[in-house]
Amino acid sequence: MFQDSTRCIVIVGAQWGDEGKGKITDVLAEQATLVARYQGGANAGHTVLVGEEEFILHLIPSGALYPSVRCVLGNGVVVDPWTLIDEVEKLEARGIGIRERLLISWRAHLVLPYHRMLDGARENLRGTGRIGTTKRGIGPAYRDKVARAGVRVCDLADLAGCRELIEDGCSAANMLLERWESEERAEPDAILERLSEVSPTILALAGDSGDAIRAELDGDGRVLLEGAQGSLLDVDHGTYPYVTSSNTTAGAAAAGVGIGPTRIDGVLGVVKAYTTRVGNGPLPTELEGEEAERLRRLGAEFGATTGRPRRPGWYDAVVVGHAAAVNGLTALAVTKLDVLDSFDELRLGVAYELDGRRSDRFPDRAPDLARVRPVYETTPGWGVETAGCRSWEELPGAARDYLARIERIARVPIRYVSVGSARDQIVRVPIPRVA
Ligand code: GDP
Ligand code: IMO
Ligand code: MG
Repeated sequence: MFQDSTRCIVIVGAQWGDEGKGKITDVLAEQATLVARYQGGANAGHTVLVGEEEFILHLIPSGALYPSVRCVLGNGVVVDPWTLIDEVEKLEARGIGIRERLLISWRAHLVLPYHRMLDGARENLRGTGRIGTTKRGIGPAYRDKVARAGVRVCDLADLAGCRELIEDGCSAANMLLERWESEERAEPDAILERLSEVSPTILALAGDSGDAIRAELDGDGRVLLEGAQGSLLDVDHGTYPYVTSSNTTAGAAAAGVGIGPTRIDGVLGVVKAYTTRVGNGPLPTELEGEEAERLRRLGAEFGATTGRPRRPGWYDAVVVGHAAAVNGLTALAVTKLDVLDSFDELRLGVAYELDGRRSDRFPDRAPDLARVRPVYETTPGWGVETAGCRSWEELPGAARDYLARIERIARVPIRYVSVGSARDQIVRVPIPRVA
């Protein structure tokens, strides 16, 4: 996707997360000089396969596996400092030196132990109405940020100055923990002590993410802004309240690293050839029973962060149409096509019916989305393995028809088709292409 005039690309999930953003970011990172995360935190789990080795990245951008790529955590990311250091050390233990090329924004907010406690306690209390969060403290950390009660990376330079903020955070958290019937309590002294142990390491990596990216673009660098979660988990544009606590969509990328939107040249939406969701909330094309089991097994659909089984469903063109609109997608990467190889027939959700009316508009309210009935088109499967395909022409005709239908409904050109988790299992689609 990189060209002389396209040097800053946002990569976003166009469904409910786990679309294969890690794999696609890794593929594009071969030509990048810098990869930055702009939102979310360690709720993300991005899988990259290099040869036989699998890496699951939670905070570190998926460009990390190329030794010359700089990695940046933008101001919009919420950083659990202990998780980050653990991830850096685990990568180093596997021979991936990252420290010298990693930068964490001074302005990024920290996820502190009481954020995790609150996330867990709230979820446990909610019972059947729970969101099904990753319990990584993401919601409470963003809540403190917006409430102007957060602790930022730059605050680590003066830990004594953070005492009051952390004491306030602990007492507010403890009140809620008691009310939410949790036995856990946050202790300011213990938190300050633990922070003093990690702050030299974090501060040594801290800097200005916007400056770093602007310098790259003012030179002849090429930048990827790697989204986490998916567009349908966006706090504004997703299936609220069954969403994450950040703007996951491309509009947030500039603000989340500290550059202007005019610096961004393209937005690549990553979609699975079918749909999955992990956690609760409506999923119109959801499969049940044996069909669900089959897709989950073939796609190895278990969460990269929590190990939870993902809920599988047919491809939903209404969802991707919504994502195309709110992100301004300029290209699509379709992943996991190979998972559909053995199906005789495929179904593709093209519209919804709600109260007897047909619409291809994505409903604003989760309760309405839970009531819609998808309108399906049925297409024949291709019945042969696609894992070895490396060009559009090599893909079976029925697979090309299926992809062309996805593209036509989304009105966004497909630039990549992924046919396996390995780096080389990628079809680069030329534009224009021969049908
Ligand atoms: P992310 O969160 O969007 O980066 O996606 P995850 O890493 O959570 O989940 C995607 C899973 O699918 C990972 O296990 C990948 O290794 C795997 N994967 C990615 N692309 C493909 C593909 O084209 N085919 C198959 N079979 N697996 C893929
Ligand atoms: P990646 O980047 C899939 C989901 C959770 C839950 C909701 C809120 O790997 O695609 P949170 O912990 O963020 O408060 O949980 O969002 N969720 C994800 N689902 N992939 C992810 O990240 C997710 N990150 C959060 O399951 O439904
Ligand atoms: Mg994931």
